[in-house]
Amino acid sequence: MSSNKNKTVLVAGGAGYIGSHTTVELINAGYDVVIADNLSNADISAVKGVEQIVGRSVPFIQVDCCDIDALRREVFGKYSFASVIHFAAYKAVGESVSEPLKYFRNNLQSLLNVLTLMKEFDVPNIVFSSSATVYGQPEVLPATEATPRQRANSPYGLTKQMSEDIIQDTVAAVPFFKAIALRYFNPIGAHPSALIGELPKGVPANLVPFITQTAAGIRKELSIFGDDYGTPDGSCLRDYIDVVDLARAHVAAVGRMVENQSAERYEIFNIGIGRPVSVLELVKLFEEVNGVPVPHKIVARRPGDVEKIWAATDKANEVLGWHAERELGDTLRAAWAWEKHVRGL
Ligand code: UD1
Repeated sequence: MSSNKNKTVLVAGGAGYIGSHTTVELINAGYDVVIADNLSNADISAVKGVEQIVGRSVPFIQVDCCDIDALRREVFGKYSFASVIHFAAYKAVGESVSEPLKYFRNNLQSLLNVLTLMKEFDVPNIVFSSSATVYGQPEVLPATEATPRQRANSPYGLTKQMSEDIIQDTVAAVPFFKAIALRYFNPIGAHPSALIGELPKGVPANLVPFITQTAAGIRKELSIFGDDYGTPDGSCLRDYIDVVDLARAHVAAVGRMVENQSAERYEIFNIGIGRPVSVLELVKLFEEVNGVPVPHKIVARRPGDVEKIWAATDKANEVLGWHAERELGDTLRAAWAWEKHVRGL
């Protein structure tokens, strides 16, 4: 099958939360996208939502990136790609603690397969979904890309660190490879159309899906994990980045590599808003902008949580030319609009 080599991006994990939003922004920016996803933690309705937003069909291949023969046959052998964006990974921190081998096997094997096939098929560029979790609890805030990584406190986090290292060493060894790792802080929100968003299976572990489900009456009340931290209101501080802004960072990263603007063949960027927001502030803002109560109570700290982290975004702003644009209140409105859409409210 022919496709324009310089404009086609493989989005591995493109039916997921961040992958679906990134697919929309890539198409808006003029790229062609091929989605590969095994639908293990995503629904085909996300692809339909993407197609509705962009007004055209998007090639979708149901394939497991851990199956290298299928990935070669169905994806790399059929299209020519300018870049890969690799989202295809498990991401539940708690589950990774109880099932570490599942996380190491899936998250590392899928990356190894993608890199192997990139080399085999001369695909030069990859954007990798990394995470602020690689920093642990930094001693100095905000975290810059030069902040030392600390050993991750979950197998999930370890797979992000190991994946970064695998990419760095592979890029060093393969002269035509370039890579950008994006370290996401806390991605939240949904597309303003409410046609795509986050769709957690079971009880949400993350804050915003728990807030929206509580507002919708699906959960009785939100538990706030600790109000005795050394922070202004005692609750944890995070850097909540709108998923559409985050999606645009991937477009900027692909553009940087495709247009040969990388300063080094392996680069890292923090992607956040660069401002700390407490859990209590976030809940209050959600209630205010949406005019809906979120019943909540304070409970004990959650094991493994860091007290506070937020990003230095200077490098992303100045070097990548990317800025977070969406207001936090608008992001929380979009999160609620999406929940209402999903529940038919
Ligand atoms: C977690 C992971 C991170 C991962 C990210 C996205 C850890 C240490 N970090 O970030 O690696 O990339 O999810 O999946 O696990 N909170 C509540 N009540 C809730 C849920 C959360 O008070 O019901 C609080 C948490 O204590 C935290 C904040 O809300 O302070 C954000 O939590 P969450 O959305 O789970 O993200 P992180 O833990 O920051």
